[in-house]
Parts: sequence; structure tokens; C-alpha cells
Amino acid sequence: MDHFQYRDGVMWVEEVAVPEIADQVGTPFYLYSTATLQRHFRALDDSFAGLNHLTCFAVKACSNIAILRLFAGLGGGADIVSGGELYRALAAGIEPGKIVYSGVGKTAAEIRQALEAGILMFNLESEQELTVVARCAAELQVTARISFRVNPDVDPHTHAYISTGLAKNKFGIPIAEAPAVYRRAQKMDWVEIVGVSCHIGSQLTKVSPFVDTIDKLKKFLARLAADGIAVKYLDIGGGLGIRYDREEPPEPAAYGAAVRQALGELDCTLILEPGRVIVGNAGIMVTKVLYTKSGQGGEKKFIVVDAGMNDLFRPSLYDAYHAIVPVVQGDGATQTADVVGPICETGDFLARDQEVPAARPGELLAVKSAGAYGFTMASNYNSRPRVAEVLANGAEFHVIRRRESYADLIRGEEIPGFLKES
Ligand code: LLP
Repeated sequence: MDHFQYRDGVMWVEEVAVPEIADQVGTPFYLYSTATLQRHFRALDDSFAGLNHLTCFAVKACSNIAILRLFAGLGGGADIVSGGELYRALAAGIEPGKIVYSGVGKTAAEIRQALEAGILMFNLESEQELTVVARCAAELQVTARISFRVNPDVDPHTHAYISTGLAKNKFGIPIAEAPAVYRRAQKMDWVEIVGVSCHIGSQLTKVSPFVDTIDKLKKFLARLAADGIAVKYLDIGGGLGIRYDREEPPEPAAYGAAVRQALGELDCTLILEPGRVIVGNAGIMVTKVLYTKSGQGGEKKFIVVDAGMNDLFRPSLYDAYHAIVPVVQGDGATQTADVVGPICETGDFLARDQEVPAARPGELLAVKSAGAYGFTMASNYNSRPRVAEVLANGAEFHVIRRRESYADLIRGEEIPGFLKES
């Protein structure tokens, strides 16, 4: 359930009419609902109630500091994958002691930054990375709390680009080889082993891959215990899917119940790294129809809108489906059409051969389920300023990121002297 509902044929977000926001902010823009974000965070978090756990929101899914602050207020931590995400998490007021740092390619500078901040733990993905972390920690004379991300070779049954837990994927350390790496870490100075971590993929619509993974992780923990290594944290990553179209992913409560059952008795703290399930359906992108046209013979229909692949990349990159609905319902007429943007690429589309409103120029469309990996994957391609982000809260709405200006586009660029002379 979300808080984007029609009233008398007009889409409202909480207690605000969406066209009113479009009038004031212009289009396109991302629009999030505070009540929906809170509801989704709590639904996930509550499904682990009574179990020692920490919900570390995956910042990459939606990284605006206002939204991170909202989750911090609900007790959330952060799963980060870069120095930039660390900077955002700290700026948003997330406690360093609730931040876990994942990713295959952390640089020494980023590792130092995280050590200085005092994050909860690094999820390390290679032996070489361990060496760098130990060196940085020794230089700074601080202890690095670490876990290794193990790759369990479980098929998450999701899009190939967002599968991470297969042996052929670049992520983690093969689970069979991980005990040796743990033993090596155990002997190192300035390194404290605190956890085991794993993340098998994103947009999972079944619980079975999670359960299979947990079975493997439990065996792995037993194996570590036999080597005299006990951990404080078991991080099972994120990955729970949402409904974009006809998928039927498990509800957070069902996911929580399945995970808990698979875990059985757990004498450490469980860490979760949900992203999409919290923010995906808590955000939409609002765009305006510029033109409509037909291909040769009139069969193919195009709706040209003011948002493109640079604003919402998922359809182009993954062939992902996003429902597109009218902001103001007219006569309800629909058509099969491509909804395309202004970018000079054939791959620039928000929908292809999809049942969409028979919209006319000037009308507003809502691209649904855009809260996760929407704005965060936006770019300036074709020198398009990135769009505004708006957060509704009851009868109020706030611009939480202003639309970029043309000056923003060239900030940091410089014409060197030798070119000015000519
Ligand atoms: N933890 C780690 C280590 C991750 O790599 C990810 C996502 C998550 C947690 C959060 O996963 P979630 O709960 O959101 O499924 N851009 C793609 C998704 C990429 C996911 C990358 N990793 C998309 O738009 O579908």
C-alpha cells in the first residue's frame, strides 16, 4: 500500500494534489511520500522484531540526505559502497556505528575515510583488500572491524545484471575459500573479525534463494567456530523484490518469517541491507507529454515526454517495466505506445509497446515504482540538468533537491589558458 491515490480522478500524494506540485516545481521531478517510506521501513524492520538486528538501508537505492535522515530517525543504519555514500550518510546524521561498507573496489582513500569515521564494519571482498585495510588501519592506529562477503553460489533468479551471488559474478570470496582468508585475518594486527556478510542479488521474488543462502551461511558459521572464530554480526544483504508489474514477491513479513526460520537460533546480531523494498514503491517520477506522433503507417505510436533515459535509466538498461499512469484521469482511454524521452538514442525510452494512457501534449504522466535506483542512476547525458526531488509529508511538500541549473552543468569545467588565447 502506498500513499499515491486518486481523488476525483486526480492523483494525490498524501494530502497534496500532484498537479499542484508540478505547477510549483516544474517537470520532470521525482516525488516521494514520507508516510510510504516510513511504512515500508517499518514493515521490513518489524518483521525482525524481537531478534537482535540492524536495518542498514542500501544508500545506492535512494541517497538523498533527507530520506536518509528519515530512516536514521527510525533507527536505521546505512549500507554504503563508496566514500561519497559515506559522506551522504554522515551528512544525513546516520550514526557511524550503524554503517556497513560493501563493494569490490574500495580505494585506500575511501578505506581511511571510513576508518576515521569509525564505521561498524567493512564487508571485504578480496584478500588484497584485507591487506590494504590492515595497512590503512595500522597507519591510523585504529582497529578495522571487518567481515568477508562470501559468495555462496546461489542463483537468485533475477536479471543477469543484478545477480551477485553466483560463482561467475565478481562479488565476494568463494565460500569454500573463505575459511582460509578468515584464518589469515585472524592473525593480523589492527584487524578485528566481527562478521560474515553476503548479498546474492536484487529484485528477488522468491524466498527460496534467501533460505538456501542462509543454510550455507549457517554451515559456514559452524566451520568458522570450529576454527575458533566467533562473529558478532551476520549480514544477509538486501535483495527483496517489489511489484512493478505482475510479480508477486513475498511481503516483508513473509520474508522475515522465512529468514528467521532458516536462521533458527542465532547468537549474533542480524544485519539487513534492504534498498528497493523500502523506497521502490514510495516514489514516482512525474513527467509531461511534449508531443505525440506515429511511425510510418500509423501503427507505432510514440508519446514524447520531457523525461528521458538520463532521468530514469532502468527501462533502457534492464528493459525494466514501470507502469505509466495519468496524473489526471481523463476518459480512461489507453493505447499501446512507446513512451520516449528527448535523448538522441533509440534506447531512450521509459516504456516500449506498453499499455499507457492515450495522453495529449501538456498532460502529466506518473512513472510508478521509481523510488529505487531512479534518481540515483540519473546522469547529465545530453547536458540535461538532473531533475528535482520532492518529498511530500501530509499536506506539505518540500523540494529536497533542487533542479540543477545550466551553471551546475559546467561547474568544475575550465577552459585552459592556451585555448583562451586563440
Ligand atoms: N547490499 C548490497 C551489497 C548491494 O549490492 C545491494 C544492491 C543491496 C544491498 C540492496 O539491494 P536491494 O534491497 O535494493 O535489492 N540498479 C539495479 C539494482 C542494483 C542493485 C545493486 N546492489 C536496479 O535498478 O534494479
